[in-house]
Amino acid sequence: MTRLPARLQVTALLLLASPLLMWLGFAGFSYAQTIQLPPLPSWFPPVWKQSLAAPEPSNTQPGRTPTTIPQFSESSDPSGRVATYQPGGATTTAGNAFFTPLGTNGRTCFTCHQPQSGWGMTPQSARAIFFATQGKDPLFAPVDGANCPDAAAAATSLAQKAAASSQLLLKGNIRVFLPVPAQPEYQVRILRDPYGCENSAKYGLPSGMLSMYRRVLNSTNLTRNAQFGSFATVISPQGAIMWDAREPSLQSQFVDATLGHAQAGTPPSGSQVDQGVNFEVGLFTAQNFSNQAGSLSASGATGGPVNLARIGVANVPVPAIPLAFNTYQPWTLPTNSAAQASIKRGEDIFNTRTFTIAGVAGFNDGLVGPGNPAQNSTCSTCHNLINVGSDVVPGGRHLGIGDNSSADKSGNQTTATVLRPTSDQPLFSFLCPVGSMPFFSNPVTVNGTTFDEFQTTDPGMGLITGKCADLGKFKVPRLNGLAARAPYFHNGNAASLRQLVEFYNARFSIGLSSQDEQDLVNFINAL
Ligand code: HEC
Ligand code: HEC
Repeated sequence: MTRLPARLQVTALLLLASPLLMWLGFAGFSYAQTIQLPPLPSWFPPVWKQSLAAPEPSNTQPGRTPTTIPQFSESSDPSGRVATYQPGGATTTAGNAFFTPLGTNGRTCFTCHQPQSGWGMTPQSARAIFFATQGKDPLFAPVDGANCPDAAAAATSLAQKAAASSQLLLKGNIRVFLPVPAQPEYQVRILRDPYGCENSAKYGLPSGMLSMYRRVLNSTNLTRNAQFGSFATVISPQGAIMWDAREPSLQSQFVDATLGHAQAGTPPSGSQVDQGVNFEVGLFTAQNFSNQAGSLSASGATGGPVNLARIGVANVPVPAIPLAFNTYQPWTLPTNSAAQASIKRGEDIFNTRTFTIAGVAGFNDGLVGPGNPAQNSTCSTCHNLINVGSDVVPGGRHLGIGDNSSADKSGNQTTATVLRPTSDQPLFSFLCPVGSMPFFSNPVTVNGTTFDEFQTTDPGMGLITGKCADLGKFKVPRLNGLAARAPYFHNGNAASLRQLVEFYNARFSIGLSSQDEQDLVNFINAL
């Protein structure tokens, strides 16, 4: 805290004394003008406290920012070109809250959400920024641009700095730190701590916090959120916000990102929140050009962000199952190229190839899904928001990525091995009352009591709610612009779309042929 300016020191001290009171005071003060805020997320005060306590980067100059985001802009990605369109016209970045450092470490929203990465962040972009700035861009701020803050602050050589931010440079992952909630159903233990953050007295479990390493979600194609809000509705056209669904609204997300990622001592004003959220909900992003298939709006197809803004998400407030994606339906003619035909076949597989969804908590346990097991399901059963692919039913689904659950055909999670935890990420053990996790059983006896032991690199929603039944649940994410933002899944552990599709093929025993898998990959690369 030694580096904080005087005003912040006062804030930080008060904060340590009474985080919740401070927060409540701020909230009443700053939102009254414009925004109706939902109830406070209870996980937030400890996150803010840790953010303020983390060392600041040595350089707090914001990174390179364009002077305008044009109405239409395009950039290359590995399979073609991704583009962003703003129906409301170009945005001047100077003075816009999304592009303004609102905290103390020089970061803006644009630090982590950039158009060439589909408004997310990729390892390629992170590495380019790292080498261009000798690791000094605020992207690598110790608070969460490093694997753990103190190692980053101590790093002096370029190689040490790179090692300290390996999750960001190799997987595009940011450290997300969250408190273990009060009176959880489980006990948490640390099984693996690759960066020393989990056992750290200051940052880890001894102070009630866990660190996870998560991919940046994209801040685009969010329109429906703004229209409907998401916290008050049972069916929300946009679905959950954040991988673990922890934010009640885009407004609260903006505030928390400013206080957390940007280490701000005071929250942004109501009009700054409005401006930042208005900017992001005015963005539409999609793949616009394919190296193999050419223009994605040729011959009647409706790919690209201009079409997405015009028709894609405009008028369908209900889930579209199975025809969630209709972009490439016109590509059926004999005159269509082989590459176009493959994308169209991929769209059909996504919409209509049926399989049984079994053993997915958050889906098969009757809360939101049609029962267990759910035959005749498709990819679009979960990815159902039209031409965007999030799930209009909020909450998370437990697919089993990076944990010790796995599924056989009957939904018993005992046999197949799919995307197991990797040694570059922490491993947690959650001891749950026997039978409290749907579709999961792994009895172990500790001090004479038997528990179901769930091991994972990231507990997801279960860390927010404290419930065993929510462990391993993550939101169903939007699928546009994925060609520009590999790797995939919340922990970046599917290196390619091919690997991701192979995961699904095994997880749900779909029976996809090699050609089917390639068609699905080509289709997803065209979204
Ligand atoms: C240090 C990098 C970083 C900065 C700075 C940052 N974000 Fe993010 N953003 C992330 C990460 C990582 C996630 C996903 C975290 C999670 O789900 O736990 C995310 C998630 C989001 C989401 C959720 C999207 C969804 O589909 O649920 C939105 C919206 C967003 N950020 C907007 C913003 C805004 C607005 C700002 C500026 C106030 C900002 N971000 C600053 C890294 C960053
Ligand atoms: C039971 C619901 C469900 C079904 C069925 C489903 N998905 Fe998903 N999908 C999810 C969830 C949840 C995630 C996020 C998982 C995570 O990262 O932990 C996801 C993530 C993805 C991603 C990664 C997006 C990103 O940003 O990393 C892609 C691509 C994807 N799904 C494609 C498909 C395809 C193709 C199918 C059909 C073969 C399919 N999904 C079937 C729920 C589902």
